[in-house]
Amino acid sequence: MESKKEISRVVGGLRGEIEIPGDKSVSHRSVMLAGLCDTPVHITNFLHAADCLSTAAAMEALGVSVRWSDDATLDVTGRGFDGLTEPSGILDAGDSGTMLRLMMGLLAPQPFLSTFTGDAALYRRPMGRVITPLSQMGARIVGRAGGKYLPITVLPAETPLHGIEYKMPMASAQVKSAILLAGLRAGGETTVIEPFPSRDHTERMLRAFGAEIRQDGTRVSCRAVSKLSAPEAIEVPGDISSAAFWLVAASIIEGSDLLLKGVGVNPTRTGVLDVLCDMGANIELLNERESGGEPIADVRVRSAKLRGVSFGGAIIPRLIDEIPILAVAALFADGDTVISDAGELRVKETDRLHAVAVEYNKLAPCVEESEDGLVIHGGVKKIRHGSCFSYDDHRMAMSLAVAGAAGDGVTIENPECVDISYPSFYKTLTDLQ
Ligand code: S3P
Repeated sequence: MESKKEISRVVGGLRGEIEIPGDKSVSHRSVMLAGLCDTPVHITNFLHAADCLSTAAAMEALGVSVRWSDDATLDVTGRGFDGLTEPSGILDAGDSGTMLRLMMGLLAPQPFLSTFTGDAALYRRPMGRVITPLSQMGARIVGRAGGKYLPITVLPAETPLHGIEYKMPMASAQVKSAILLAGLRAGGETTVIEPFPSRDHTERMLRAFGAEIRQDGTRVSCRAVSKLSAPEAIEVPGDISSAAFWLVAASIIEGSDLLLKGVGVNPTRTGVLDVLCDMGANIELLNERESGGEPIADVRVRSAKLRGVSFGGAIIPRLIDEIPILAVAALFADGDTVISDAGELRVKETDRLHAVAVEYNKLAPCVEESEDGLVIHGGVKKIRHGSCFSYDDHRMAMSLAVAGAAGDGVTIENPECVDISYPSFYKTLTDLQ
């Protein structure tokens, strides 16, 4: 279905308080790990959005009880690792790479068959990066095009998996997590080594579930456990990747002052704060505290004059999902912004380097695309109104909305993809004016 959304220029700033919806990465992991235990886990601030609902539905299809008390609150009760049962239908990952890749690791040691499908975008995303190491552990996984793409079937494990030491070619929390989840049921030690540290929610949550995770720089290891011990409750922090749209919107729309409540500020995710502060943003962390093994804070952001910066290397995995919205900040900043080492953006929900270059150039012709990054010549005198395509990518749609709100308005083609991670995004944008 094709539809359009008109976003108008915001005059006078964005003001108010926002409860940031639950973290997508932590929500996926909470329902997966809870489903591997045999006592109930009460999960609050779960992200009730399409991606995480795919994971909850898959766990239910494996015999796990998932009871909702409201949109963001659920009780999950499994029957232990050995209590998972063969799904009677195909597991649908929708648009979610995290669901598909982590579930492959979780299911690889199981003695039954599971088959995955997903949406058209997920059919184009590379899965060999997970299938290769899991196969080295003894998993039997088949997929299209030589085992690289959906549809994918995880065949019943014939023999127990064995641990491996795996040097990952890219920094990816999804790949690392899939290997660690399989490692929980593999003989010997399982070790992953990353080029740079990626988000560590799996490691933190596994520790909270009683698993022994050893970390030494970019090396992470685990051993098999006979069972996981579930905490009684998990409170999911607010998603800094969702907060990022407001951090940038408030920074570049004059007269703004926002308080973002309960934002997850795990250091493996806060690259966006570091870059925005380097750009001159006015951001304050208040009421810093911990919740369920994850640091959280309220974040106040007020409008500021931004300047262009250069970033790449180790910071990239710490802000990988925020590059489209940081590129919007760069459009409105004085001077050039140079982003490098971000080739992984080409295999996200869409090729985000290409999408940013093509669509933002419709608003102001100032973005150059390189093989692994972007150069944005900021400080453009006039950002014009344009009609831009979301590529059915939630983070593109929200970034375009912020660019239009700070510029001269935008028409977004296929805007409803925000449901993947932030269903109330457009309403919140209106409410803050
Ligand atoms: C995620 C890891 C990242 C990120 C994605 C969520 C996760 O992907 O882009 O949105 O929850 O593990 P990669 O592991 O492919 O970098």
